[in-house]
Amino acid sequence: MAGLIPQNFIDDLLNRVDIVDVIDAYTTLKKAGKNYKGLCPFHQEKTPSFSVEPDKQFYYCFGCGAGGNALGFLMNYENMDYVEAIEKLASQMGMEVPREESNDALRSREKNQVLFEVLEQSCRYYQTQLRKHPDKTRAVEYLKSRGLSGEIARDFALGYAPPGWSNLLESIGTNEPLKKALINAGMLIENPDNKQHPLYDRFRDRIIYPIRDNRGRIIAFGGRVLGDDKPKYLNSPETPVFHKGEELYGLYEARKNTRKLEKILIVEGYMDVIALAQNDITYSVATLGTATSTSHLRRLFKLVPEVVFCFDGDDAGREAAWRALEQALPLMEDGRTARFLFLPDGADPDTEVRKIGKSAFVKNMNEATQLAEYFFQSLGKQVDMNSLEGRARLGRMALPHIEKVPKGIYHQLMLDQLSTITGVALQTLAGMEKTPDSGRKLDTIPVRSKPPVRKSPAGRSVCMRAVNLILLKPGVAADLEHSDLAAIESPDMDLLLQVVTLAKKHPASTTPELLGRIYATPLGSQLTQLLNREQITPTEGIEQEFNDIIGHLLKAHHHKLSHHSWIEQARQKLDSRRNTGNSEAPGEENTPDQG
Ligand code: GTP
Ligand code: MN
Repeated sequence: MAGLIPQNFIDDLLNRVDIVDVIDAYTTLKKAGKNYKGLCPFHQEKTPSFSVEPDKQFYYCFGCGAGGNALGFLMNYENMDYVEAIEKLASQMGMEVPREESNDALRSREKNQVLFEVLEQSCRYYQTQLRKHPDKTRAVEYLKSRGLSGEIARDFALGYAPPGWSNLLESIGTNEPLKKALINAGMLIENPDNKQHPLYDRFRDRIIYPIRDNRGRIIAFGGRVLGDDKPKYLNSPETPVFHKGEELYGLYEARKNTRKLEKILIVEGYMDVIALAQNDITYSVATLGTATSTSHLRRLFKLVPEVVFCFDGDDAGREAAWRALEQALPLMEDGRTARFLFLPDGADPDTEVRKIGKSAFVKNMNEATQLAEYFFQSLGKQVDMNSLEGRARLGRMALPHIEKVPKGIYHQLMLDQLSTITGVALQTLAGMEKTPDSGRKLDTIPVRSKPPVRKSPAGRSVCMRAVNLILLKPGVAADLEHSDLAAIESPDMDLLLQVVTLAKKHPASTTPELLGRIYATPLGSQLTQLLNREQITPTEGIEQEFNDIIGHLLKAHHHKLSHHSWIEQARQKLDSRRNTGNSEAPGEENTPDQG
């Protein structure tokens, strides 16, 4: 049956499927005009910015930029590959998927299928041994001694690999193909030199921690000794279904057991995740003996706006924290938070939560150091902040890191703070970003001993951010005086002004409606680009942020005027813009009314 799926079948399938039905099974969609809207299933939000267009059979989220057709939706949401998504759609439509001749991709998918099956069987086997094996008492007592209940053991599917070299081999590897699958899944070890056991079970006399993928499939195991033997932990090796550096232990369970995931706590060990869950903190994950990577964090930030890293308070912990910070910087878009929780020396989350209890632990977590604060704190410790040289050195160290933060308010705030700390004017700092030798140049910049006068350039991203906020909540622009902004020079000011005009005219419109209006103007294509860049939807504080941005733009502008006596010039510009602007601005005539 393996083989390529004919293209005409896929076309036919997509013609018959209605994307609205497909997506409605995952998030409630309500009709809005000719489209549907609902809460985005790809990110957390309180007001709907997710839109489905039946005409185009397309979905789009104005908050997080997710978009695609019905197949894309399933692939994204269910983490399915293309073929799996087609199979799922076809089965919903009662259609049989035809196949052409076999191909490698499908064959390997089928091979993986066998691995998943033997891994699942192994998991069940270990769980059964924890209940039935003659030696089970030792294992059960061990888990109890670590404070775990039967319920938690069940939630995490904990098991027991009994002593002996061929338990799995004999109970699951009953024929050659299954034996092969167990070897490929990392459960059996082949060693022809070992005359007594040329093929033997990897996990023996250990507590077993199954590792699941996003979809809950068992992909690997960790195994811990019951006493103090070495090595303390054994993990499955890399296999076709297990890539250690990409997986996060406990993520599937966290999603399953937390009613509404708002943040994720990143810890080091299996037992930390489980002990936290035992103490009703069900949203922690552990990397599998590797450092937290940007790809780990990218996955987590897709699910939640906040991550908290948990580290030992010792030197090794601080080093690990800095590495984690470096991984997080490129992902620090507006609206995201990363915190660093340092535990007392020698403690780990398991011992700590058992010692101080849930509420104290949660309190510490909520008050943990914010990324920017930790960033400046760590750098500040490395220099003498009382000397000009020291502050210049801090600037030199900080800039390349700040450059990695996506352009936006958060980026701006970090530059701002650097300016305050170093006494180097913000404009100078901003100008030094992205120059090849920005580091060395700072040495030659005069550093003042007094706090700098704040000068903020009317930055491109700031305007774009304002546009995004209006799209999210058109009402925020209601009280804005158009003429206040018109004089400000900024590459995206025209777009902002036109969006303000539209939003003022239709203050009650929803995001998709407003967008529908904008798409009908020449700005439409600019806007698509914006939405691809701006990834984060704030769910609250939209007004506040919007007012802050406008205040920031106006202040920067007035500052510039008072320093350069450009008032006259600006007036002229304003006048000429008013004269020519009317024909460009989308007015009533050329704006289709969808309301
Ligand atoms: P216990 O509380 O002693 O059960 O361990 P832990 O969960 O606190 O783990 P620990 O902090 O000692 O180590 C953190 C993680 O590193 C573990 O969860 C394992 O993933 C990994 N690890 C620890 N020891 C070993 C080892 O001996 N071998 C391997 N491969 N990994 C280990
Ligand atoms: Mn521990």
